[in-house]
Amino acid sequence: MVCEKIVKVNETLASEVASVINEANCMYYRFIIPGIHFKYPIVEVEEIANYMKSMEFFACIVREEIVGVIALKSSGKEGVVRFLYVKPGFQRKGIGSEPLRFLEDYAKGKGLRKLSLVVHSRASWAIRLYRSHGFVTIGFRDKGAWLDYIMMKIL
Ligand SMILES: CC(C)(COP(=O)(O)OP(=O)(O)OC[C@H]1O[C@@H](n2cnc3c(N)ncnc32)[C@H](O)[C@@H]1OP(=O)(O)O)[C@@H](O)C(=O)NCCC(=O)NCCS
Repeated sequence: MVCEKIVKVNETLASEVASVINEANCMYYRFIIPGIHFKYPIVEVEEIANYMKSMEFFACIVREEIVGVIALKSSGKEGVVRFLYVKPGFQRKGIGSEPLRFLEDYAKGKGLRKLSLVVHSRASWAIRLYRSHGFVTIGFRDKGAWLDYIMMKIL
């Protein structure tokens, strides 16, 4: 395990969580989101704090620093994976897989039967990661300037 621990986080850490999301998003998505649609920051601290009321957020910790984040939105027996991000400088070290694996086990433990997610169709790095975890593409969503894939995994 590369993460020293994965912990559930609440609004008190919204600023650190938002920072990981914004920096990692900018690093990857500025190349595939057309300029007029690209947003930085992609989320404000208050938005993340608000999301934390309806989703469970987890952080991957290395030397007391949040280096990765992931969130789960549950509804009935289904869950949606949101906000999988690893901080620039910590990527490609196996960290991203760990919160995803953790979330799958956590969701199973909660009795969820299925996980889904939405990913930009040109985010090859993320699609590769999700496929290696058994997610399959089940549809797409036309965002106008680009396509998102909808991926799913039965737990
Ligand atoms: C997706 C993300 C979280 C992966 O985190 P990471 O710590 O770099 O991932 P890992 O080191 O655990 O890599 C796991 C697998 O992901 C894929 N992957 C990760 N980064 C990749 C890259 N730059 N290019 C191609 N494949 C990549 C590979 O399959 C890799 O396995 P491998 O190293 O055996 O080939 C990270 O790239 C990130 O924060 N990206 C921006 C946010 C994002 O796109 N999130 C998904 C939103 S839907």
